Amino acid sequence: MRIDIVTIFPEFFDVLDLSLLGKARQSGLIDLGVHNLRDSTHDRHHSVDDTPYGGGAGMVMKAEPWGAALDGILGAEAPAAPPAAPPAAPTEGGPILIFPSPAGDQFTQAMARDLSLEQHLVFGCGRYEGIDQRVVDHYSERGRVRLVSLGDYVLNGGEVAVMAMIEAIGRLIPGVVGNPASLVEESHEDGLLEYPSYTKPASWRGLDVPPILLSGNHGAISTWRRQQQIERTERVRPDLLPRTN
Ligand code: ADE
Repeated sequence: MRIDIVTIFPEFFDVLDLSLLGKARQSGLIDLGVHNLRDSTHDRHHSVDDTPYGGGAGMVMKAEPWGAALDGILGAEAPAAPPAAPPAAPTEGGPILIFPSPAGDQFTQAMARDLSLEQHLVFGCGRYEGIDQRVVDHYSERGRVRLVSLGDYVLNGGEVAVMAMIEAIGRLIPGVVGNPASLVEESHEDGLLEYPSYTKPASWRGLDVPPILLSGNHGAISTWRRQQQIERTERVRPDLLPRTN
């Protein structure tokens, strides 16, 4: 998968050199481009923001640098002749341009899974009071654009949200996580929160591992884990459970 990020803080994404995603980049599973929005400005001060029309607090990111930066990334991707071999995953429609925003659709595991099947994601990290609306409007007329929210709270900018999304999406790309079975039993994968896990020692500070896990009875362990998932979900996130009425 190709991932491009446009930001005024490219250093934020240095951490993508680390851990599983760093390995995925080294092995070519993820091809990452981080672009400094200020490189797409033409004034002496490399300004990316200005005061809002209509007044109000804060600054708004200007359309021109965004247009130049995104044209540079998306322009090369103009629909060409169909590829000789069909792509392995459903990737009709070219790249998806994603703007993290508290006003967007809620990011979920299901969305992460859908996006992990794409071939090219482009993230635009807004700052200040957001990006001039015409940027979203312009690219929406030309391709697939999504506003995506990490949750019902406000971050200072899109960078942290994009980091979280890339981690959630990237680990679902086949080959990124060494043991794919570990992806199956996680929170949210089957609509429930995950069961509690334990490792050695069997007793720690007076707290014992539930005896069932030491029993060697795999059927009973599966049943216990399922019960734990249901109980935990009922207690912590009842909104995830199917409605019974
Ligand atoms: N930018 C600022 N707040 C955000 C949020 N909650 N989700 C995504 N992007 C954001």
